[in-house]
Amino acid sequence: MKKRVAFFDTKQYDRAFFSTAEGFEEFEFFFFETKLTEESARLTAGFDAVCAFVNDTIDTAVIDILHTNKIRLVAMRCAGYNNVDICYAHEKNIRVVRVPAYSPYAVAEHALALMMSLNRKVHRAYYRTRDNNFNITGLVGFDFYGKTAGVIGTGKIGRIMIGILKGLGMDVLAYDKYPDTDFAHKHAISYTSLDDLYRRADLISLHCPLTPETHHLINTKSIQKMRKGVMLINTSRGPLIDTAALIEGLKEGQVGYAGLDVYEEEGDFFFEDLSSEVMPDDQLARLLSFNNVIITSHQAFLTEEALSNIAATTIANLREYFTDTSLTNEVCGTCTEETCVMENRFSK
Ligand code: NAI
Repeated sequence: MKKRVAFFDTKQYDRAFFSTAEGFEEFEFFFFETKLTEESARLTAGFDAVCAFVNDTIDTAVIDILHTNKIRLVAMRCAGYNNVDICYAHEKNIRVVRVPAYSPYAVAEHALALMMSLNRKVHRAYYRTRDNNFNITGLVGFDFYGKTAGVIGTGKIGRIMIGILKGLGMDVLAYDKYPDTDFAHKHAISYTSLDDLYRRADLISLHCPLTPETHHLINTKSIQKMRKGVMLINTSRGPLIDTAALIEGLKEGQVGYAGLDVYEEEGDFFFEDLSSEVMPDDQLARLLSFNNVIITSHQAFLTEEALSNIAATTIANLREYFTDTSLTNEVCGTCTEETCVMENRFSK
């Protein structure tokens, strides 16, 4: 009998790519539009596995329900897993797999799109010319060539970003908790301390995971250490930036541009059409009011190549789980305070 998999927080593009991916016919996929929450977790009764996404909640309450419903596999169709209580899942004998890499190019290229649009004010020029306003006053940008970029996190995406920035003729400073000096040497970039990167970079792009250590990495203190008018780009996870501090930085002109594909409280908004409703989130409303801020709705991953890779790897992860005991893309549950990705799990 085909194994039944419950997908949460699905959109038309998920259904399109998963329903045509090679091997999909081995399973019975059921696509729920609702996010996975304590309420919707009850829908998993009768399924063999759950497939979840970045803004689903897989905390202790949800895991208890999944466990009662005999779900023993959560397949994340994304790379990050900061929304999963991995340790508790393991305590309950629930295994968690993910898609560690599906297209680092998709994310880095989206970060580039944000940088370019912000600098050359494409978002503002678009509205002017559509209104037959061909005035270019106020649209002055700067050459990226010769400027200094700071990349925080030099993993799969950060490295592609570095290649792109080098291609623009920028000097690149990097920070990573685990620097790779061979990579730095080969690509003529320098690893430095966070403080030095803040002091020297004209543009800072975040590509590290969300962990207790990186939560609010960008805060009032770090923003004050940055160059006046710095461009901040976040395509990683919203809580890397303290939104209140960012808003103050923008108001003071300390932050000159912000390109955000992620937002601290995005779970309540991103991926949904709320255009007929009043915006209840004051911080998001304030961010949206700045003409030097561009917010996209966690879409950096959204390319055809990434979606097909996500579907292919998730199907391979499911196949492995139902036929094998070793899981190539399993997320480890033996975490410590230093490595645990769950916010507040080791409460300070
Ligand atoms: P990766 O695991 O290949 O690289 C992460 C890098 O961050 C590693 O080099 C690691 O050593 C470094 N790192 C870990 N802790 C750090 C710390 N405290 N300070 C500085 N660096 C630290 O991950 P990848 O694939 O490059 O993805 C990066 C992040 O991008 C993911 O964690 C995810 O949050 C985000 N992402 C966002 C997407 C979007 O659609 N907006 C799509 C995919 C990923």
